[in-house]
Amino acid sequence: MEVTKKKLYSAVQPTNNLTIGNYLGAIKQWIALQDEYDCTFAIANMHAITVRQDPAALRRKTLELLALYIACGVDPEKCTLYLQSHVPCHAELAWVLNTFTYVGEMERMTQFKDKSAKHADNINMGLMDYPVLMAADILLYQADFVPVGIDQRQHLEITRDIAIRFNNIYSPTFTVPEGLYMKVGAKIGDLLDPTKKMSKSAENANGSIFLTDDRDTVIRKFKRAVTDSGNEVRFDPENKPGVSNLLSIYSIFSDKTIAEAEADFAGKGYGDFKLAVGEAVADKLAPIQAEQTRLLADREYLDKVFASGAEKAYHTARKTLSKVYKKIGFYQL
Ligand code: TRP
Repeated sequence: MEVTKKKLYSAVQPTNNLTIGNYLGAIKQWIALQDEYDCTFAIANMHAITVRQDPAALRRKTLELLALYIACGVDPEKCTLYLQSHVPCHAELAWVLNTFTYVGEMERMTQFKDKSAKHADNINMGLMDYPVLMAADILLYQADFVPVGIDQRQHLEITRDIAIRFNNIYSPTFTVPEGLYMKVGAKIGDLLDPTKKMSKSAENANGSIFLTDDRDTVIRKFKRAVTDSGNEVRFDPENKPGVSNLLSIYSIFSDKTIAEAEADFAGKGYGDFKLAVGEAVADKLAPIQAEQTRLLADREYLDKVFASGAEKAYHTARKTLSKVYKKIGFYQL
């Protein structure tokens, strides 16, 4: 007998470049989950426009992100991989859920407050409504689990609140999702400020390694990485945060334990060490980048992935939306 798999849903905005921290924390884990769960992964371009975007860049980054996912190993045959704006149900359910969400709740959201401060000239309704659209994304697919970064916890909590609220007023309609809080980049620190986590939106791009960085850039950034005034390559996050961060990166990218990594650099200087870390990372990124480039040149294939993803996603989403419309009293044909 076939067991129905639990449903997993996640999405990423096609805005900033992803770092090796995002790769290790998110995409790599998605790949590990795609056999065990019924996975749906979206590219959240409707969320992206809550801050002003350049249209040509948004279009380009959308394709780049799709190609990157596939290049990293997300299998469009196993998962539903689609673009949010291709499925109209997101906007439709978000409208309904707006009437089950209080203005005060949205005003209290940390990300709304942060982004309002950052984009004070454009505090638009969409920015405030962002969590409701995210709730619509998740609830449309009846997701059991939502792997996200810890920064999305508040949005997931409000999604649960909205789902429970709706279910209580009518009858069970939405699966109440659980967050799978991945330590996005938790193990990876910024190269220039290793006590902070490597971020795709850090002020200084030299502290982050992006998945799109070429070999020379990767090696240059590692050469400039902050270490300490000592000369010993030893794992000691407390006293040697820079060196320890580099050792972690090296161990992950060369599939070695920390002890093996330390042994590789016994008696060697920081210069050699940093070069070796850079090379290990560049070696791992090269095939992903080559595959991304190959895919980007095959627009027909990418369009096909988007089209079949949208079709699969629409099928599921529409079912939920019809249920909702029925419960709230929308006359349907
Ligand atoms: N807000 C998420 C982020 O920036 C992206 C996102 C949009 C999302 N819709 C989602 C994540 C639904 C999980 C589920 O990281």
